[in-house]
Amino acid sequence: MRGQIVAGNWKMNNDLSETESLITSLKAQTKTSNAEVMVAPTATNLYSAYNSLKGSGVEVIAQNMHFAANGAYTGEVSASMLKSVGVQTVILGHSERREYFNETDEMLAKKIDAALENDMRVIFCFGEELADRKSGNHENVVESQIKNALFHLEADAFKSIVLAYEPVWAIGTGETASPEQAQDMHAFIRKTLADKYGADVADSVSILYGGSVKPNNAVEIFSKPDVDGGLIGGASLNAEDFFAIVNAF
Ligand code: 13P
Repeated sequence: MRGQIVAGNWKMNNDLSETESLITSLKAQTKTSNAEVMVAPTATNLYSAYNSLKGSGVEVIAQNMHFAANGAYTGEVSASMLKSVGVQTVILGHSERREYFNETDEMLAKKIDAALENDMRVIFCFGEELADRKSGNHENVVESQIKNALFHLEADAFKSIVLAYEPVWAIGTGETASPEQAQDMHAFIRKTLADKYGADVADSVSILYGGSVKPNNAVEIFSKPDVDGGLIGGASLNAEDFFAIVNAF
């Protein structure tokens, strides 16, 4: 059966010493749920975070990577570089990467291939904008994001893929999708996968929700049958809040 996952996306927050002090606070927390726990520090802090969290049960993951193995891509980081500092999982396709760094579905398909070729796990993010939701086009948008980036893969690849539905209008805004809106979309995502790959594959893939998940709404969101966890931004920068969400299962 698919696993529950709570991942903290720290985005471009916390220098080295702030990262270390957040990790110290994380290690003081008690996990009472079965959820897998992951945190994504900024690239410069991955190696120290990996060493500090080794053996703690909290996995250190990356926020992004390039699709090429190496070469003339100033400022970029490759899959093998991430792996060399202990990182096994990468977030790809976050809406901030799509919006501010012009990441396209086509580019993301290449990044996903590179991660899988390097035996990495991918948390693939997608989600509609407010205008899409208002015009009733949200399912079409999500369906095409999934198809364009993932549907070239063989069914077997989905053992290494986690999906994260993050409606852009709910990220950092304090506005969450209602638990029913999240459930409806997650069920739609699972059906989209089932139509292409069959129910067994669709049922085995964890689908996370992201967008203003907080300690006071996590229980209700995570109670929905197709919501298998969360990708947490703001609330993951506080160890107690983050573990309140981890323990909301
Ligand atoms: P917030 O939890 O701050 O809304 O961010 C969600 C997110 O973008 C996680 O990747």
